[in-house]
Amino acid sequence: MGKDLAKVLISEEELQAKVRELAARIDADYVGKDLLIVGVLKGAVMIMADLARAMHLPVQMDWMAVSSYGTGTKSSGVVRVLKDLDTDIAGRHVLIVEDIIDSGLTLSWLVNNLKSRGPASVEICTLLRKPDAVKVPIDVRYVGFDIPNEFVIGYGLDYAERYRNLPFIGTLAPHVYEHQGE
Ligand code: PRP
Ligand code: MN
Ligand code: MG
Repeated sequence: MGKDLAKVLISEEELQAKVRELAARIDADYVGKDLLIVGVLKGAVMIMADLARAMHLPVQMDWMAVSSYGTGTKSSGVVRVLKDLDTDIAGRHVLIVEDIIDSGLTLSWLVNNLKSRGPASVEICTLLRKPDAVKVPIDVRYVGFDIPNEFVIGYGLDYAERYRNLPFIGTLAPHVYEHQGE
């Protein structure tokens, strides 16, 4: 694994401190409300699990599986729903939990999709955001880190389904993907 990793961008300690900070903000903002947090599989598994455990509100958790990247490093722009919510969100306060906003295509599609189901509110919490890559502007209430436009892996984020289990965020060495498509 070592030679595929260019550098550590955000350490495990920095991640966990940020997760506690986000959890405290969400706890404060949703006091007295019945909150459903929706993790976007598969990338959001780590942030969802850590965020939920750092929160003190009695939230419900549900999951959607959508994919726009397949096995490549570029978003296809085509969002596929692989698993829908089990929960009826009509009248509910919904917080979408994502690992990263890259082009914004996935979340812009997902927010519109969830809003059409009549929820009381829909907000977004994303651990990472790439301001330089955004193609669709999205209103995001909670952002962990704004990061440079590099391919990042770890803490849920994959390259071709690998590296999700790294406990930190790293950048992928270009040699791993530079011959892609040849
Ligand atoms: C990744 C990531 C976000 C999305 C962000 O998911 O986890 O969900 O892409 O990219 P965008 O802002 O350009 O749409 P991916 O489609 O790779 O599926 P995965 O979560 O299963 O890895
Ligand atoms: Mn994802
Ligand atoms: Mg992916």
